[in-house]
This record gives sequence, C-alpha cells and structure tokens, in this order.
Amino acid sequence: MNTSERDELIRAALDAQQRAFCPYSNFPVGAALRTASGRIFQGVNVENASFGLTICAERVAASAAVAAGEREFTQIAVVSRTGVSPCGACRQFLAEFNPNLPIVMIDSLNPGDVYETTLTELLPGRFEGPV
Ligand code: THU
Repeated sequence: MNTSERDELIRAALDAQQRAFCPYSNFPVGAALRTASGRIFQGVNVENASFGLTICAERVAASAAVAAGEREFTQIAVVSRTGVSPCGACRQFLAEFNPNLPIVMIDSLNPGDVYETTLTELLPGRFEGPV
C-alpha cells in the first residue's frame, strides 16, 4: 500500500469518526477498511443503553465489507482521540479474513501521528476453530 492510498484510508476513518454513536463513552472511533478491489468501507462505534451491546468501529467496517461481497481485506485505519489499538474481539474478528492485516492507528488530535502494525503482531496464537 503506497502512502497516498494510506492517507486516503486515514481521511476516510477521520470522516467516519464524526458519525460515531457514543453517547455513553463519549469516545468516538472511526475505522476505514480497504479491500482487494480498492473499495473502502467505513465503520463507527455504535453504543447502546444496554452497554454490552456496543459494537466497535472495526467490526462495523468489516461487516459492511462482507455484506457488500468483499472478503479480501488489505488494510484498516482506526482513528480515535488517543490513537487506540483494536480491542481483542475486533482482532479476532478481523483475523478471520486476513490474519496479517496491516493496521494504521491514528490519534485524531494529532493526525500526523500515525502508528503502523499488523494483525500478526497484535494477535499471535489466534483461535482458528475447533478442528
Ligand atoms: N471502541 C472501538 O470502536 N474500537 C476500538 O478499537 C476500541 C473501543 C469503542 C467501543 C466503545 O464504544 C468506546 O470505544 C469506548 O470503549
């Protein structure tokens, strides 16, 4: 992935972050996932009065891609005001489609502050199923 594609993905994640539904945590997260066809799918965290029903931005983006018929994930950007790393549940969810997915984390208060890693680094020894 070249720098301009990465920057486009970061812009899409920053754009999505503005639409997060997070009245309980007040911690908006935006995600943007690129697939092999070049399309970008956005996600935001969607919270609920029943807190445990909350879904993270990463899983919303991944689900949108799969619903559109896209299963080859090539890169994800995640934006929050502290540049957080995807939670354990999201790591496992994303690894289903690409266990070595490149991940870019961005602090929306300092958008030039970009940290890049991969899912292989973040989730060693993932669960691969009962067989
Ligand atoms: N959250 C995400 O959307 N993605 C992450 O990677 C970490 C956490 C959301 C869940 C919840 O709505 C809020 O951030 C605070 O935990």
